[in-house]
Amino acid sequence: MKSALLASIVSFIIAFFVSYNLNAASGAPCGNYLSESGLTKGQCDSAEVDPTDIASLQRGAQIYMNYCLGCHSLKYARYKRVSEDLEIPLDMFQENLIFGDQKLGDLISIGMDSKESKVWFGNTPPDLTLEAGLRGPDWIYTYLKSFYMDDSRPLGVNNKVYENVGMPNMLIGMQGEQFSVCKQIPEIASNGGIKQDPLTGEQLFVEKCGFLEVKKGTGTKTLEEFDQSIKDLTNFLAYMTDPMKKERETLGVYVLLYLFIFTILSYLLYIEFKKDLH
Ligand code: HEC
Repeated sequence: MKSALLASIVSFIIAFFVSYNLNAASGAPCGNYLSESGLTKGQCDSAEVDPTDIASLQRGAQIYMNYCLGCHSLKYARYKRVSEDLEIPLDMFQENLIFGDQKLGDLISIGMDSKESKVWFGNTPPDLTLEAGLRGPDWIYTYLKSFYMDDSRPLGVNNKVYENVGMPNMLIGMQGEQFSVCKQIPEIASNGGIKQDPLTGEQLFVEKCGFLEVKKGTGTKTLEEFDQSIKDLTNFLAYMTDPMKKERETLGVYVLLYLFIFTILSYLLYIEFKKDLH
């Protein structure tokens, strides 16, 4: 009896830690991306993905089908499954989100020849079904907002997260022209506070370069709107990698609950048996 009790306690603890670890997003470092405060470099911003936000997933799917599917397939997924999961009526989905002669039951593939695209972009655009698992949603989100104008590159753009990337900035119309700029930021003293001039008491500044700044009036969306759009897009790609996440998490809670109740029951049983021994 004691061993049954021990086994259930151990399995509860293991299950808890396994599910906890699965939840921890595998964030990848973000290259030369400089956070808005200028204090961290190479750290990704948080995409705050939410698999239960269906409206966000729908908006993300719409952007994906219009701006990304030209080059990136989602070949492990079918249109039909996506339209059902995202609660988009089949006829509406077929009409607005499927291009060419593809059918609802088809895998989300593309017609582009990978050899040709390698010649065009220097690299073949990868399939993105499992991208969020590979790079992590935070990486994707930060990558998508880190394109900036760079005349030295063949396509006129570069990327802070993925230096010398071969991908054109597809969302430039929405975001507008973004540049890598220098800014004066408060100098930080060794004790972590803001440095001041010892004589005048005035705050001291240093120049730091590599900040991203959008030129006003060049995009169709405001900064906040654009941010929301790429959050939606990232949310959609996170769903792609793990379409069962929502179900799995609810199921996980029940499994843990079951193990917990089982542990209590076996403990009570253990006490009951022990009584008889004396
Ligand atoms: C015109 C073709 C084209 C379009 C359209 C396009 N991409 Fe790309 N993308 C590429 C190419 C080419 C690469 C590979 C770049 C490299 O390795 O240098 C790439 C790379 C990526 C990567 C990084 C892959 C990796 O892990 O190395 C992500 C993420 C990505 N694209 C997302 C998107 C999203 C989201 C959209 C829609 C907004 C999009 N792309 C639209 C061509 C495209």
